[in-house]
Amino acid sequence: MSRILTGIQSTNIPHLGNILGAVLPAIELSKKPENESLFFIADLHSLTTQKDAAMRIESVNSVAATWLAFDFDTDKNIFYRQSRIPEVCELTWYLSCFTPFPMLANAHSFKDKSDRLNEVYTGLFTYPVLMAADIILYDANFVPVGKDQIQHVEITRDIAKAINNRYQQELFVLPEAKIDERVMIVPGIDGQKMSKSYGNYINIFLPEKELKKVVMSIQTDSTPIEEPKNPDTCNVFKLFSLLATSTQQLEMRANYAKGGYGYGHAKAALFDLILSQFERARKRYTHLMSNPDILEQQLQIGEAKARKIAQEKIKVVRNVMGF
Ligand code: ADP
Ligand code: TRP
Repeated sequence: MSRILTGIQSTNIPHLGNILGAVLPAIELSKKPENESLFFIADLHSLTTQKDAAMRIESVNSVAATWLAFDFDTDKNIFYRQSRIPEVCELTWYLSCFTPFPMLANAHSFKDKSDRLNEVYTGLFTYPVLMAADIILYDANFVPVGKDQIQHVEITRDIAKAINNRYQQELFVLPEAKIDERVMIVPGIDGQKMSKSYGNYINIFLPEKELKKVVMSIQTDSTPIEEPKNPDTCNVFKLFSLLATSTQQLEMRANYAKGGYGYGHAKAALFDLILSQFERARKRYTHLMSNPDILEQQLQIGEAKARKIAQEKIKVVRNVMGF
């Protein structure tokens, strides 16, 4: 059996990049009978940026509703809020005492902001240690994440290795990042990586009218409608091809090549595709968001299972380290 583990921060409603880059590949892996999956909401990590309590609660619900809207099987697997498993904080402390300072100073999450140190909280600096604790507390083998998180999984391995070495035993499993090569980086409406922080994301759960507005605002070049266009340099085509079948992609390519096909047509086709692909998920998401008691119940069931694993593991760690 392999343990698959991944977390999504509760900082907003998961966007198309999160869904294609993280949620769907992880759910795919969770369906293999030989895998057991632990998918959690990284609400403690979200405190590094999100301080508002009401917004956190709303985001936690929205991340939970997203996993369930895409049919994550909570009977076979384990679904929980990171903050409900206090052992993760205890383990973070132990790990931090084996984490060399320069390793964290090199982490992108911190480095990107290191020129504005007065705006950096210690929590952001030690963010990778909490993430390492998330992973090794549960002896996870594989961690499905986007490309930007590879470094954090490498840091996790380094910390786990250092501790295994120091105590001369396989106390922690060394996890491997699992990247879905097909969807390395989903572009946003401005062509940069889709991200909450760039404000360029597509929220597929928006009401139809608002969703259409966002899709119609995808940036394109100014090639006139009658001229042929290059699909390979076009954001709309890139997004379309992430969702479309190969036949749909070929048709769209032919439309671009023949001229007389405007970006407005391509955007309308992308919008229709988003609606049809995500029709069921959109309905389920809306239902779950208006019934948070269902979310709470599912999470509590998962948290009891996660807590059991965490308590057993922390006992072993305490023992090995002499606490
Ligand atoms: P954001 O950049 O919007 O803040 P997060 O850093 O919270 O997103 O990412 C949550 C998960 O979604 C991670 O596994 C991350 O790698 C993945 N992810 C985020 N944005 C994208 C994207 N544009 N393309 C592919 N995967 C993404
Ligand atoms: N840092 C991850 C992100 O921003 C979220 C996360 C927290 C995570 N803990 C994790 C992902 C453990 C995988 C495993 O995307």
